[in-house]
Amino acid sequence: MPTILAIETSCDETAVAIVKDRYVYSNIVASQIETHRLYGGVVPEVASRQHLEMINPCLDQAFTSANLHWCDIDAIATTVCPGLVGALLVGVTAGKTLAMLHNKPFLGVHHLEGHIYATYLAQPELKPPFLCLLVSGGHTNLIYVKDCGKYEMLGSTRDDAVGEAYDKVARLLKLGYPGGPIIDQLAQYGNPQAFPLPEGRISLPEGGFHPYDSSFSGLKTAVLRLTQKLSQENDSLPIKDICASFQNTVVKALTKRTIRCAIDYNLTTIVVGGGVAANRGLREFLTKKAEENNLKVYFPPLKFCTDNAAMIGCAGADHFERGHTSSLSLGVQSRLNLTEVMSLYR
Ligand code: KG4
Ligand code: ZN
Repeated sequence: MPTILAIETSCDETAVAIVKDRYVYSNIVASQIETHRLYGGVVPEVASRQHLEMINPCLDQAFTSANLHWCDIDAIATTVCPGLVGALLVGVTAGKTLAMLHNKPFLGVHHLEGHIYATYLAQPELKPPFLCLLVSGGHTNLIYVKDCGKYEMLGSTRDDAVGEAYDKVARLLKLGYPGGPIIDQLAQYGNPQAFPLPEGRISLPEGGFHPYDSSFSGLKTAVLRLTQKLSQENDSLPIKDICASFQNTVVKALTKRTIRCAIDYNLTTIVVGGGVAANRGLREFLTKKAEENNLKVYFPPLKFCTDNAAMIGCAGADHFERGHTSSLSLGVQSRLNLTEVMSLYR
């Protein structure tokens, strides 16, 4: 089983990890949240500069806390897509330079494949096929996971990603950034039935609604209208009830599509990945509904839900074991469909 040094810098976390297949030796994450909080969201240029400052200390720390040396490393895996180009470039340049310097194979990893692999870190026995609900700041997807590198996209969002909807709603409620964890926390103390909100549905030309696709921008606008109305009528906003009602609508919409999709495709296992997989409401409700339908559902441990390099190393290890490596001329890409992930390897 290969030992992989992994680097992740696609957004606002500088992360380095050393993993042996599904075992994590070290997992270093330098979060930039405090910096971006000042601006209410990620500022790409600021993110790149901070990655540049943090990448070397993170690399050192990953080796120190794993108590390993370069001779123990079989290959280097680095997130090459999708993400902020300037941010990705820092990690990829570091990864390629180290691969050349230490004469190690280099693997470019797709960030979303990393999120799919996060669950393996706690469930080493888990094997495809399964359905992955991938919910992050940039993505909301239902993915049929057939094997390493073999994915079919069954459902997507037509507008905002679910994490993005959380962040936007938090901004309009003036709760701070990132919105997901704050709304999740406040929702625990609110009434989820306080305000009925519309679940975004996608109409089909032949009538009815798309069973797996979602839409969150209408919901966000509905929260905005509700907030405007309530602030005209009251001195203070019932923030906890708004958060609970919003979260209840999101969680129900995601759960309904996921369970339906798993049943339709005869998949008995559901794996959740991405930052929103940390959501308490989703963890509870999806687990309950999966049990009712005799489906198994796995969530990654909280530290592997949001961006980290251990998940990138885990995906890289599987590709490397299958003989896949990337060319050192592989560039970064702001977008790449997960179904084209094998284009990263030779
Ligand atoms: O996967 P991730 O770290 O980065 C991307 O690849 O996008 O996900 C970040 C997103 C943010 O939008 C954040 O608000 C959301 O995940 N998030 C949550 C929770 N924790 C993080 N959303 C809902 N509930 C949470 N507990
Ligand atoms: Zn992510």
